[in-house]
Amino acid sequence: MTSMPAVKLGVLISGEGTNLQAIIEAIDRNELAAEIRVVISNKIAARGLERARRRAIPAEFIDHRSFPSREDFDRALVDSLRAHQVELVICAGFMRLLSPVMIDAFRNRIMNIHPALCPAFPGVNAQRQALDYGVRFSGCTVFFVTEGIDDGPVIVQAVVPVEQDDDEVALAARIHAEEHRIYTQAIRLYQEGRLEVRGRRVHIRGASPEETATATIDRSPS
Ligand code: GRF
Repeated sequence: MTSMPAVKLGVLISGEGTNLQAIIEAIDRNELAAEIRVVISNKIAARGLERARRRAIPAEFIDHRSFPSREDFDRALVDSLRAHQVELVICAGFMRLLSPVMIDAFRNRIMNIHPALCPAFPGVNAQRQALDYGVRFSGCTVFFVTEGIDDGPVIVQAVVPVEQDDDEVALAARIHAEEHRIYTQAIRLYQEGRLEVRGRRVHIRGASPEETATATIDRSPS
């Protein structure tokens, strides 16, 4: 832990929220100096909303369908995030493309996680895409959100092996375990003031090899 102030997070979700849960638990264990100021979901039934409420974290449902345009929905997101004094936005299974309204309001302050080694397999069903392609390794990527799909500057990646008899569920589970680890790591690097975006590349001040890329060879059955 550093003496830098805790970073104020706003977490955007649409579903299960296991990455949100991993962040909550990292904060509990004092591995991350952060405060989750608000969790926002565009789906009322998102399990992540329940996870937040259980921890007395403000949890809001903002229905994208009740806005005439993507930009109007994003303005509502910006308003809520600002009202909660959020510094860093964490997309964690948030199934909406962000417009320039959000991206400009939080330039280089929005992170997302993708269950593949970017730029491979962008968009939905990344694990299915990896299996169909027949790669031996996949993984996950934390990046800063830009206007494109899963193509912003890479912060941290982790490599995960693809086993012969993997199906989507088995591969997704192995990747998920790494997501939970590297998302916390990326947020910590931000909180420590060690991330600097230089064009497409993210420079990590004083980085150890583990902080720029990590490989896991997990042979345990999933
Ligand atoms: C993760 O696989 C993440 O990579 C993708 O959406 C999924 C969210 O999972 N962007 P969860 O809701 O955090 O469990």
